[in-house]
Order: sequence, then C-alpha cells, then structure tokens
Amino acid sequence: MKKRVLVLTGGGDCPGLNAVIRGIVKRAMQENDWEVIGSIQSFDGILREPTEIMVLDEKAVAGIHFQGGTILGTTTKGGPFAWPVKEKDGTWSSVDRSDEMIRKLQYLGVEAVINIGGDGSQRISQQLFEKGLNIIGVPKTIDNDLSSTDYTFGFQTAVQIATEAVDKLVTTAASHNRVIILEVMGRDAGWIALHAAIAGGAEVCLIPEIPYDINKILKVINSRFKNGKGHVNIVVSEGAKPIGGQTLSQVSDEIGNPNLKLGGIASKLLHDLKDAGCRADMRETVLGHLQRGGVPNAFDRILATQFGVKAMELAIEGKFGEMVSYRHPEILSVPFVDATSRYNYVQKDSTLIRTAIGVGMCLGD
Ligand code: F6P
Repeated sequence: MKKRVLVLTGGGDCPGLNAVIRGIVKRAMQENDWEVIGSIQSFDGILREPTEIMVLDEKAVAGIHFQGGTILGTTTKGGPFAWPVKEKDGTWSSVDRSDEMIRKLQYLGVEAVINIGGDGSQRISQQLFEKGLNIIGVPKTIDNDLSSTDYTFGFQTAVQIATEAVDKLVTTAASHNRVIILEVMGRDAGWIALHAAIAGGAEVCLIPEIPYDINKILKVINSRFKNGKGHVNIVVSEGAKPIGGQTLSQVSDEIGNPNLKLGGIASKLLHDLKDAGCRADMRETVLGHLQRGGVPNAFDRILATQFGVKAMELAIEGKFGEMVSYRHPEILSVPFVDATSRYNYVQKDSTLIRTAIGVGMCLGD
C-alpha cells in the first residue's frame, strides 16, 4: 500500500495556492510509494461526515499552476480546535475535534499532512504537531507578514495589482487635480502599501507600523497644490491608524470566524482631511479582494512551485514540525515555533523605509 500525504489550503486564498498543490503532486509522483489526497476547505473536509477529500494525481493538477484560487477550496472559519456547534438555544459554541481528526487521518492511512496557510493556519499546524501529527507547513499570504521567510507566495502578485491601481489613479488624479486615496490590504503589516507606493510613485504611504499625523499629510497636499492645481496620491494599508487612534474594524458576522473585518480607513482619512481644512477635491478607492484573486505572476508561481516540491521532500525525508521557507537563494525549512513566534513587520530602520523617505514620500509621521 502506498504512503498517503494529505494536502489542504486554509485561511484567505492567495495567488499561487494551486502551483504549490501541483508542485507537491509532481514531486510525489516521482516516488513509487507515495500518493496524494486533498482535503476540501482546509481541515473541514476531514471533519465533515461524509469526509470530503479528493485524489490529487497528475491529471487533477495538470495546468493548474497559473490558476487563481485553490482547487481544494478554503475557509477562514472553524478548524479542528474550534469546530462551530449550534446549541439547542440557537447560540453557537465551539468544540475541540483535534483528537477525533487525528484518529480519522490514521484510519485514512495518512502518513503526512501538508498545511498551506498563513500564520493562523501554521499555529494550528504547531498544535497538531504537538499532538503527534506528522505535519509540514507552507507559508501563504498576500500580506507577507510571516517571519522566517523572505517572502510568502502571493505577495508579489498583490503588489503588482496594487501598483497597477496606483498607476491608474495617478493619471486620473493628475487630470482632475485631485487627492486620491487607495486602500490596500495589510492587517498588521504595511508591505503591500509600501511596495505599491514606491513602485507607483505615490506621495504619501500610511502603514500600520507608523501611526500617522493628519497634519503631516495635509502639509504635503498643501505644498503640492497651487491655485487649485496639483494632485496627490495616497496609499493606505487597511490596518493603518492615526497617532493615538485605533485600526478600523468590525466583528466578523460569520459563524466560527475569529477574524475582525478591517476596512474603511480611506474613507476616514478623506473625512479627517476635510475636517482638518483640506480644500482639494478628494476621492477614495478600496482595492479589496481584487488583490487576492486571479493568476499568480511568474515570481509567485516559481516560489509556490519551489515550496510545493520542498514540502513533499520534507514528507519523504520524514522531517515534520517544519514550515518551508525562502531565504534567498535557498528554499529551507524552519520549526513551526520559530515561524509563528514572531511577526514580520515593516521595520522603521529598513532599507525600504529609507528608500521611501529618500524619494520624498510622506509616511505620516
Ligand atoms: O490576511 C490576508 C487578508 O488579505 C488581509 O489583508 C485581509 O484583512 C483579510 O485577508 C481579508 O479576509 P476576508 O477575505 O476573510 O475578508
């Protein structure tokens, strides 16, 4: 009987997930004694009755390397440690089904699990590893906020999409003598905003790591408008906040989803600028999930494929409790505890920040 590796994708989707799945399957097919199955919608496929899994053979992954989304589906809700259960009174609570899930995986003959996901997913990987599951992680997120890897796949594609948005907004802002604010994703880390702002030549970039002073932004706008003529492009991370203020968020109304919904900072900024005396015509654009969908760019396809191949090689070697990682030019692996214990914030003394300041960009401080 062949050894089985189970693959799943968890958390928010991201360009390149399918390229990872294909990398895993292609590498596994080079061994005679391995076969690959996928769990539908993260661990839910295993936890559901009847089980929802699919065979991942060469045919299943043919040509998927450039497809957006994930052929396995994904979810940001629930999971083995917090499975949502409806109580008799209609309220929801959660139960830990991790032991039951591990038993089910044993019954299915699963020798190794590859969990493709962000920081939340890799924390689940660590907990499952501590319970004895043979598990390997692959870091995914457009936010690039996982430490222990130079980049997560999906990030470069999101930056490209955000940069194209800045390019478009620069021309319309200039034509209309306007201030245009672009809100991009980035809950706690401003990587997408900062990269897109530098690539697109925005005048202002606001990120969660650097709380902003509205008067500093107003000063930039005033300096760039003469007799009502001029334009300013601002890129803001959804997680950005004013000095002494809070990130704008709403409690998620989805059952079992512990994540806050971020958003609204572009609109707040526009109104706050108005209140602070800004007389320029202003508009806002929220890029939202356009950053997450669609085809991965070449960089992300390559990184995702490398991650997939490496993850399968770890499974073959029997090296578990590790997340694959990119440390240029190598693809390595690091223990889950190292990968999840630190967060990848933009550092104020980094080259990227110095570059932004070097080209005269206002970071709001
Ligand atoms: O974590 C990645 C991310 O894209 C965040 O930047 C964003 O806040 C979040 O996902 C949105 O998640 P959802 O699709 O659940 O609204």
